[in-house]
Amino acid sequence: MDPNKKIIFSGIQPSGSLTLGNYLGALRNFGKLQDSYNCYYCVVDMHTLTVRQNPADLRERSYALLALYLACGLDPDKNVLFMQSHVPCHAELSWILGCYTYIGELSRMTQFKDKSQRHADNINGGLFTYPVLMASDILLYKTDLVPIGVDQKQHLELARNIAERFNNIYGDTFVVPEPFIPQNSAKIMSLQEPDKKMSKSDTNVNNFILITDPADVIMKKFKRAVTDSGCEIVYNEAEKPGISNLINIYASVNDMSREEVMKEFEGKRYGDFKIAVGSAVAETLDPIQKRYNEYIADKAYLDGIFKKNAGIAREHAEKTIKEVYEKVGFIVY
Ligand code: TYM
Repeated sequence: MDPNKKIIFSGIQPSGSLTLGNYLGALRNFGKLQDSYNCYYCVVDMHTLTVRQNPADLRERSYALLALYLACGLDPDKNVLFMQSHVPCHAELSWILGCYTYIGELSRMTQFKDKSQRHADNINGGLFTYPVLMASDILLYKTDLVPIGVDQKQHLELARNIAERFNNIYGDTFVVPEPFIPQNSAKIMSLQEPDKKMSKSDTNVNNFILITDPADVIMKKFKRAVTDSGCEIVYNEAEKPGISNLINIYASVNDMSREEVMKEFEGKRYGDFKIAVGSAVAETLDPIQKRYNEYIADKAYLDGIFKKNAGIAREHAEKTIKEVYEKVGFIVY
């Protein structure tokens, strides 16, 4: 860890196969930031228990997520790639910060409202207090910057409020973190219903592209993607949500601006554009998939990374917990 570099923390839930939304909204940026910051990238397994999980699947998906972090180019020697449940301080800080978070604030979280509707038979306490655990993940490492998609912005704002509240009572303790949200891929939308987010928990497989989808499946899903009336390839989120989403995807995978995409496809047909977007995505994901297959076959290597980094993360996290315990008045040895 370079003491002159700022700190990044972000996490992804191992709650299903990851989508192109996760990749473009978060993962792709993790790799871009790894040289300029001290980065903690976490497999946030504890968060997944807010909805029922099959234990064997959860374990497998946790390895899969680490393999994907590596396949997306995260260097295990430069980044602390670790598992949330390996560092007990996350849960410890979550208890403390929960006592500085109001029920009113948690009730306003849109993701809580959405998930309570979708899992009406299991609206558990964890689902409600989940943003406090997320705040703890971030604040524990004195994080400066949090790369996320726009759907996590409200949670990040809550983390900032909790940090400021705690600092006001006890003096400077936490860094108040800033979000890092990509411009074109802040919210990748569903391919069939472009008014809703592309999500790994969607029941219609044509709504999302998985990072592990083979090229022919990717092409088929893009060819079927819903477009809008009219025939021009122009960006207009309100009137042309389908085409705008495809422009965002093409711009993101090629590191282009929306204007450059519109210029490239001026006068072209929707059908041609959809094929071009599909090919660009398949080409981007192909090398990631190949590396992923190699990493996931080597569990011993993945275990080695998890074990080594649990120690590194714990060391940093324990310092913060000790400071917090002292400030709130616990006896600390
Ligand atoms: P999760 O696991 O749902 O998603 C992981 C990351 O992917 C982004 N994302 C998207 N970005 C653009 N378009 C989409 N369609 C899309 N879908 C998902 C998310 O914004 C996120 O950045 N609570 C978090 C995990 C978490 C976390 C943290 C993140 C726990 N602790 C601390 C940052 C810092 C979550 O459920 O993300």
